[in-house]
Order: sequence, then structure tokens, then C-alpha cells
Amino acid sequence: MEKKKVIGIIGSPRKNGNTVFLMDTLLDMLTKGFKTEKIYLKEYDISSCKECYYCMENEECSIKDDMQSLYLKLREALVIILGSPIFMGGVTSYMRAFMERTWHLRKGQLQGKIGSYIIVGRRDLGGGINEMEGYLSRLNLNKIPGVIGFGFREGDVSKDEEALKNIQKLSNQIFNLNQIKISDD
Ligand SMILES: Cc1cc2nc3c(=O)[nH]c(=O)nc-3n(C[C@H](O)[C@H](O)[C@H](O)COP(=O)(O)O)c2cc1C
Repeated sequence: MEKKKVIGIIGSPRKNGNTVFLMDTLLDMLTKGFKTEKIYLKEYDISSCKECYYCMENEECSIKDDMQSLYLKLREALVIILGSPIFMGGVTSYMRAFMERTWHLRKGQLQGKIGSYIIVGRRDLGGGINEMEGYLSRLNLNKIPGVIGFGFREGDVSKDEEALKNIQKLSNQIFNLNQIKISDD
């Protein structure tokens, strides 16, 4: 049987940063049962929503930029993990633009998929948790509690034992949910 897919969507500008560290740790654990792919939003040309409301009538976005390829990846994946550092009390602008541009997928198009998140801040997470939780709810994903890491400089979060423990927990939950799903098929 073909392995199901997990995508890790990264809103950090740092490729060796703390968010990527936690995402890599999670995806490494998941490779035992899934195909995994890491998506660095900074490598994609994603403009912000221009509020044209084309998607109200058409269930697709009128802007033909790199989001079009990400829509396909979202539909293909069984598990969607969002990862973002906290910038100024919220997710980064890379992540925010990505979220806005999925507005037309809020009517259950991704229903049945599993969603979770990783956020990393230095100290003050502001509204970051609410943003992630609210987003996954809007998309009707089966939500698993996210992982919060603390760190500032690259690699700091590797010393956050609680975050690492919670990454292991998240991996276990993804495996468990997936087994339940397979046995229902
Ligand atoms: C522009 C900017 C704003 C930041 N704002 C916050 C903040 O509001 N709260 C916080 O805890 N950390 C803040 N940080 C620190 C980052 O969240 C922290 O360094 C994090 O580890 C970066 O993750 P990364 O290595 O995955 O990029 C900010 C960093 C930058 C560059």
C-alpha cells in the first residue's frame, strides 16, 4: 500500500532555525510510516489576498502564483503540520500570507485530514497559539495539540526538553490516528 503523506509547512526565514529543527525531528520520526515533505514558504512566491472575492463563487483563487502548487500539495497530504516562529506576537508574514490564501478551502474541502502545528518563540507567544488553532479549525481539520518551543538563536530549541518530548507525543498521536483511520477503511 502506498504510504500516506505528511507535509510540514515552514514559515521561518531560517533554514537552520528552531522551527525547522523541531519540524525535522517530527518528520524524521514519521518517515517510519509516511512519505514526508518539507515546504519552505520563503521559497514560494505567495502574494497576500487581494480581497477580490473571486473564491466566493469559484472555490479557487484568482491569483496565479506559487500557491497554486501548494493547493495541490494540501489536497494530496493526509497530515498537514504548520510551523512558524513568533514574530511580533504572531505567526510570520510568510505563514500569514499562506493562511489567507487558503480561505476558499474552509468549506470542508480538506475535511478528514489531520492538522497540527509547531511554534517557537523567544519568550512571548502573543496570539500565535490562537492563530494556529483558529486556522486549523477553520479548515475543518482533525486537530492534534501543537508543540510549543522556546529559543532565540539557531539551535536553542534543541535544549528545550519539553518541546522534544511533545514532538514525540505528536508523532505518536499521528501514528495512532492513522491506524484508526486505516482500520476504518
Ligand atoms: C522580527 C522578529 C520578531 C520577533 N518577535 C518575537 C515575539 O513577539 N515573541 C517571541 O517570543 N519571540 C520573538 N522573536 C524571536 C523568534 O521567535 C525566535 O528567535 C525564534 O526562535 C525564531 O525561530 P526560527 O529559528 O525558527 O526562525 C522575534 C524575532 C524576530 C526576527
